[in-house]
Amino acid sequence: MNQDTSDDAGVYLIRDDLALIQTVDFFTPIVDDPYYFGQIAAANALSDIFAMGGQVKTALNIVGFPVKQLGAEVLARILQGAQDKVAEAGGVIIGGHSIDDKEPKFGLAVTGIAHPDKIYRNQGAKEADVLVLTKPIGTGIITTGIKKKQDQVPKSQMDEVIHWMSMLNKAASDTLKPYDVHAVTDVTGFGLLGHAFEMIKDADLSLELSLQDVPLISGTRELAEQGYVPGGSKSNLQWLKPHIHFDEELTETDQLILADAVTSGGLLIAMPEKEAEKYTAEMMKNHHFARIIGRFTSKHSKKIFVQC
Ligand code: CO
Ligand code: CO
Repeated sequence: MNQDTSDDAGVYLIRDDLALIQTVDFFTPIVDDPYYFGQIAAANALSDIFAMGGQVKTALNIVGFPVKQLGAEVLARILQGAQDKVAEAGGVIIGGHSIDDKEPKFGLAVTGIAHPDKIYRNQGAKEADVLVLTKPIGTGIITTGIKKKQDQVPKSQMDEVIHWMSMLNKAASDTLKPYDVHAVTDVTGFGLLGHAFEMIKDADLSLELSLQDVPLISGTRELAEQGYVPGGSKSNLQWLKPHIHFDEELTETDQLILADAVTSGGLLIAMPEKEAEKYTAEMMKNHHFARIIGRFTSKHSKKIFVQC
């Protein structure tokens, strides 16, 4: 099988009817609570399997941790958070590796499976498809705000961002199965605009988005306006700018929000509008989240056009 590094995970064909999907991700703590950090790191690492339409099978822990300074109990909470999420995903953690490390780091190497004909790619969107997003954005800005402002950020805001980051993309992916799906990816470090751009950059397509259609986690705008924007989000906007046409009325803050570096974001799905309407209705009815946020057009400019 050919290697296609811009897809969400590596795919290896075992048989005509069975492909392995493998992915790995780890990072430094994004929240103070070790149990939630473990959950979020796991949900984030598992996400690429769901973005490709796979089933999670096994995972390995990847741990860098200062046991002498922080204690084995903290590490045990991180591992428990991850174990609970992998179990919820339908998989099992079968091992791992840890090293002594001044700064804690945690993540997973994950193996999933899928039928080779049923794997979702980030390419394949068609003209007149709409773009669906299955989690609101803003995690980079909010977690930066929480780190810098500490207890000034209301607990409800903290709970909300943890809720979204620890949520698996399993329901979003499983619900998608019967629908006509043209392309899927997940929103992570390159932000909503960066991952959306991945979907059109090799196709003769443009994408039209409206800021007002993009769901934000509560507090995102307020914190962004106060300047709590991570470096990764700023550099996303820098490299994306040549590929995006922002309406004049959009402020720098608006642009940074759309480019915000996301941890454990939702799926981005390209599908026909009628299908998307049914899919988003089914997701909302089952107390999940999905919203149509844009439309693919064939302006042959490979650009994203963003309106207010
Ligand atoms: Co991905
Ligand atoms: Co189709």
